[in-house]
Amino acid sequence: MDDLSVFSGNANRPLAAAICQHLRIPLGDADVFQFSNENIFVKINQNVRGHDVFIIQPFSSPVNRSIMELLIMIDAFKRASVARITAVIPYYAYGRTDKKDQPRVPITARLIADCITVAGAQRVLTMDMHAGQIQGFFNIPVDELTAQIIQARYFGTKNLEPFTVVAADEGFAKKARMLADRLDAPLAIVEKRRLGNNGLTEAMGIIGNVEGRHALIVDDEIDTGGSLVQAVRVVHEHNARDIYCCATHGVFSGPALERLSDAPIKEVVVTDSIPLPEHKRLPHMMTLSVAELFAGAISRIHDGRSVSELFR
Ligand code: R5P
Repeated sequence: MDDLSVFSGNANRPLAAAICQHLRIPLGDADVFQFSNENIFVKINQNVRGHDVFIIQPFSSPVNRSIMELLIMIDAFKRASVARITAVIPYYAYGRTDKKDQPRVPITARLIADCITVAGAQRVLTMDMHAGQIQGFFNIPVDELTAQIIQARYFGTKNLEPFTVVAADEGFAKKARMLADRLDAPLAIVEKRRLGNNGLTEAMGIIGNVEGRHALIVDDEIDTGGSLVQAVRVVHEHNARDIYCCATHGVFSGPALERLSDAPIKEVVVTDSIPLPEHKRLPHMMTLSVAELFAGAISRIHDGRSVSELFR
């Protein structure tokens, strides 16, 4: 496969630019915009015939527009006779709609996977999906990265002693265990239950010991912040010392910022998988960049080398 080309929709151009900087190539030139009638238009302004094309587009706000932009870009590249298209989706929205757990509900995570495949993508590169099984919704290869190396590096330098990693809910326990192992720390798990479909959750208790210890609460994403502040409350009630929170994706919708400001949290750490506009930044918020990680994965996919070696 010869020429490597990286393009971006409008979802997270700063991340795409940073990835290109690490790859030492310019970001591809394409127009991606919306007409006044909300129809999206894409034009690739350079020859890409025979290229190995990577399109960077997390499904960040406005989510549905980000998805449509990606689909239309894939179609444009397919019709421009590229050799291969990889959809690079640092944040895969709709990941929580991944099963029919109530009567008459959709499996939207699967629907979007189908759309991406039908549009013409031949590979997907993503990171910390809500559930690993979503990889199986695609009939094309999916490489799922994790931000855990970056998170472990960051928290490892803080020398927090004694220290417990806390999974924000049972569903995240397995991944939290991996982070705890990387940090050589014990694991605790918050028991959470969801109340209906409106995003409300209730944290019931904690399995494990946080008393007198620093706590790092981890989750895949912070959306409205409900799950996280519930977990913070439980950990606080169990007399933890400093409470840190860390998630790969900082969605921060609805009341999230207010909730995070009011809770006894020392620091909230997310990545730049989703752009964090100035008005969403809190003083105790830290963003870690995943650009180098994605650049490494893109380079390896392009060269036909192992991606999992990145995590050894
Ligand atoms: C759900 O199971 C996920 O792991 C997250 O806990 C959830 O998406 C966070 O959403 P929110 O911040 O709205 O509670």
